[in-house]
Amino acid sequence: MAQPHILILGAPGAGKGTQSANIAEEFDVEHVTTGDALRANKEMDISDMDTEYDTPAEYMDQGELVPDEVVNAIVDEALSQADGYVLDGYPRNLEQAEELAEMTDLDVVLYLDVDEDELVHRLTGRRMDPETGDIYHVEYNPPEDPEVEGRLEQREDDTEETVTERLRVYRENTEPVVEHYEEEGVLERIDGNQAPDEVWADVKATIEDTA
Ligand code: AP5
Repeated sequence: MAQPHILILGAPGAGKGTQSANIAEEFDVEHVTTGDALRANKEMDISDMDTEYDTPAEYMDQGELVPDEVVNAIVDEALSQADGYVLDGYPRNLEQAEELAEMTDLDVVLYLDVDEDELVHRLTGRRMDPETGDIYHVEYNPPEDPEVEGRLEQREDDTEETVTERLRVYRENTEPVVEHYEEEGVLERIDGNQAPDEVWADVKATIEDTA
């Protein structure tokens, strides 16, 4: 079988990054994530693109979407270089979903379904290791090594105020994308409220059955 083309959808904090890391390792595919790509290029000058703000950072720190023109180019470039992939963070609106359909074919579309109060709790408690990029949670998944614990950082958009705005933007722009794939009959719904290992067992089985 050729390397699978996997899309993972879900609200902010649903566990897309956590499960994408498992998928990339197990199925030997590239993890293509617009969030990480944009964070690595937060100060990029986009003023010549006729956008409201001059850098991705100004959108991201307020919880707003970065303009499609910027994000479409990142994804097109990344997918053209990947054999198989798990795509995380894109598409986030129907226009991006149309762009994606022009770029590639999908084998599996996963949707991690998580209750809203749980999303807020996960995001405000999330911490990142700046040296390895590993994701932790102060309560659900704290690091065992005190040295790692000491260097953990909180993402700038994980404050309660920005999380509330990200969830609003998600409901308005990205829920229609979920409905779009559901109407196409390709959406594989996973109960993302479960513990990470249980979510992973369902994700893995679904990919093996579908791809
Ligand atoms: P992005 O980085 O994509 O953020 P997001 O979609 O908001 O998703 P997160 O990374 O916050 O959550 P996740 O689902 O990956 O959860 P995680 O696994 O970390 O985007 C950030 C910004 O970039 C956007 O706001 C926007 O500005 C811009 N952007 C990105 N893509 C764009 C696009 N296409 N168009 C325009 N703009 C774009 O898990 C969360 C926490 O929960 C962790 O602490 C983890 O340890 C814990 N956890 C995970 N699973 C479980 C579980 N099962 N049980 C308990 N805890 C769990």
